[in-house]
Amino acid sequence: HADDRLQRISSSIRVIPNFPKPGIMFQDITTLLLDHKAFRDTIDILVERYKDKNITVVAGVEARGFIFGPPIALGIGAKFVPLRKPKKLPGEVISEEYSLEYGTDRMEMHVGAVQPGDRALVVDDLIATGGTLCAALKLLERVGAEVFECACIIELPELKDIVLESGILLQGSSDLT
Ligand code: PRP
Repeated sequence: HADDRLQRISSSIRVIPNFPKPGIMFQDITTLLLDHKAFRDTIDILVERYKDKNITVVAGVEARGFIFGPPIALGIGAKFVPLRKPKKLPGEVISEEYSLEYGTDRMEMHVGAVQPGDRALVVDDLIATGGTLCAALKLLERVGAEVFECACIIELPELKDIVLESGILLQGSSDLT
């Protein structure tokens, strides 16, 4: 049953207060990975949601989008493209800057990996300000892809069903059941 799966997934994620700095409640998905049933359920739920939607590319955001993105890509029959931190990709890249709490960061994608007409799913573990996902969306749209949806594993209750400054609409896990 879907609710049992979500319950198991939710309780397998460890929360570590004050990491990496005071006031942050860190959502640690490494404990989800230790429970292979919870990990499988996580992937199954997302594959069920995104199969038969003509998605051609799963774009994973470094670092935890690299854990959840590839099995989803295999499950729905799409290519996987890593969106990386600066200077990690060896080929020609396009890049997008985004704001952090202090300063800026940059996300890079290989030129040619995603093409006009590709239909994309973006995967990451969680959304906080939305800055990271927004940069991912822009990268994909700049090369002519259509972004179907962004999928995150962790739902922060206070962020449910609202529209971020970036224009992203956040939906909750109730939409998956
Ligand atoms: C975390 C998380 C998302 C991002 C969300 O990554 O995995 O990618 O922050 O934040 P935002 O919505 O405010 O942009 P982090 O910066 O910790 O990098 P890492 O995955 O390389 O550890």
